[in-house]
Amino acid sequence: MIKMDKNKVKNICCIGAGYVGGPTMAVIAEKCPDIQINVVDIDIERINKWNSKDLSKLPVFEPGLSNIISKCRDNNLHFSTDTENNIARADVIFISVNTPTKTKGIGAGYASDLTWIESSARQIAKFASGHTIIVEKSTLPVKTAETIKQILKGEAKLHYLEGETKEKSFSIISNPEFLAEGTAINDLEFPDRVLIGGEDSYSIDLIADIYTKWVPKHKIIKTNLWSSELSKLVANAFLAQRVSSINSISALCESTGADIKEVSLAVGADHRIGDKFLKSGPGFGGSCFKKDILNLVYLCKYYGLTQVSEYWEQVLKINSWQQERISSIIVEKLFGNINNKKICILGFSFKANTNDIRESPGIQICKDLMNEGALLSIFDPKVEKDIILKTLKKSYKDKDFEKKCKVETSILNAARYSDAILIITDWDQFRKIDWSEIFSIVNQPAWIFDTRICLEKSYIKKIGFNLWSLGSS
Ligand code: NAD
Ligand code: UGA
Repeated sequence: MIKMDKNKVKNICCIGAGYVGGPTMAVIAEKCPDIQINVVDIDIERINKWNSKDLSKLPVFEPGLSNIISKCRDNNLHFSTDTENNIARADVIFISVNTPTKTKGIGAGYASDLTWIESSARQIAKFASGHTIIVEKSTLPVKTAETIKQILKGEAKLHYLEGETKEKSFSIISNPEFLAEGTAINDLEFPDRVLIGGEDSYSIDLIADIYTKWVPKHKIIKTNLWSSELSKLVANAFLAQRVSSINSISALCESTGADIKEVSLAVGADHRIGDKFLKSGPGFGGSCFKKDILNLVYLCKYYGLTQVSEYWEQVLKINSWQQERISSIIVEKLFGNINNKKICILGFSFKANTNDIRESPGIQICKDLMNEGALLSIFDPKVEKDIILKTLKKSYKDKDFEKKCKVETSILNAARYSDAILIITDWDQFRKIDWSEIFSIVNQPAWIFDTRICLEKSYIKKIGFNLWSLGSS
């Protein structure tokens, strides 16, 4: 059964309604009104949130996303848990499920856990009909397409649908996603490139045709499967490496009197280096940089490339070190003792403009501060209170946790009577704070620790605050 009108995709199913599946499919739906898109997930709560009438309840916060959802949802964009039927009717299936680092077994702590990829492949093998193009949208280790193929081969025969006149057939495409959270919609609408790796030009071209509705042709890169899978890991490793490089230099600036902002500017002005991803901060977070580098390190080790694996592992070591040294500096500045001192934490997401806290540097820093006896008072504009508390409670096991860690709904409440204010995420609203007002409600001597270098030093110091700003003395 050929569902596709030869050269046209009519029906897409996306497995996984997370930070990638939701926004990516929303943009495809907006740009391709003639394609019906069904996003499915096993997490019913998440699906209910995607279907929520109140658009502030969507499970993913991204500037511009709710507009598209209100336009496309229930027209050509649908969210449900009906995996079976939506796989069956799809000509193209995007797999956008989670691929976290394995926590046990062979490769634990490094390799990607492919449990969810495998279960998706098995479902596709079982329910797909006719010819289906499977698109790897999740970030995967090189050669995962081979695994998917093996699963499809075996399972497809076992679950051969009754009444079919033709065997079901599949082709596999790798089409990794490069969006960054907080700018996802813009990244999807104006991508630097769209990478499509595959083995047959028919499938590659069909997927390319979806994107050419809004992406200029010259931005579409077509490669073989393995180059595409590997390029995604390498792109993230390069980006993370730049952050670790500049963060390593931030410490040297603090020791020498150089200023990291000035160094970044001077270094990035060289067009061969470029000015992006040279912003020093509390270390990179997010669900992917760490896991993708660990995965790359694992692959290098697997292929016997010890030196290469060690090289990339260092990027992660610097990142952990940057997070650890921030809490040590706070303790040192507050007379070597933060026991029972109230520290106000501004920002808990891993970067501004997202409600995602996965691998946020804030988690490790808060945990370290609590271990030193600090009382935390946290404010984040978008992260739900319960999520912050649940996350910290997991890593800081103390019977008095609720007394020691509070989440407030306003900056003023979080800051009141605090001994120090720590900026972890550079939300725009933090730049607009009336710091004189804050100065009048905090304990003296008042300290601000600015890990995002987002405050104007002279203004803060003039008010009377002690200020530690990352990367300068
Ligand atoms: P996520 O955890 O937000 O979403 C994954 C979703 O898949 C979950 O809701 C989960 O319930 C669902 N799922 C898992 N198995 C399923 C199954 N068999 N059937 C139906 N649903 C299933 O993850 P994410 O952040 O969207 O990332 C997904 C992939 O994309 C990862 O490989 C990640 O590395 C990659 N990626 C993420 C980003 C990002 O910014 N978050 C960017 C580029 C690439
Ligand atoms: C990153 C990549 O930028 C995306 O291209 C990729 O698709 C995605 O990972 C993924 O595969 O998941 P994301 O993690 O959402 O996107 O956000 P980034 O903007 O890359 O920021 C990552 C972390 O690095 C954040 O904690 C951010 O604060 C930090 N960062 C970034 C810096 O400290 N300095 C910088 O100059 C840039």
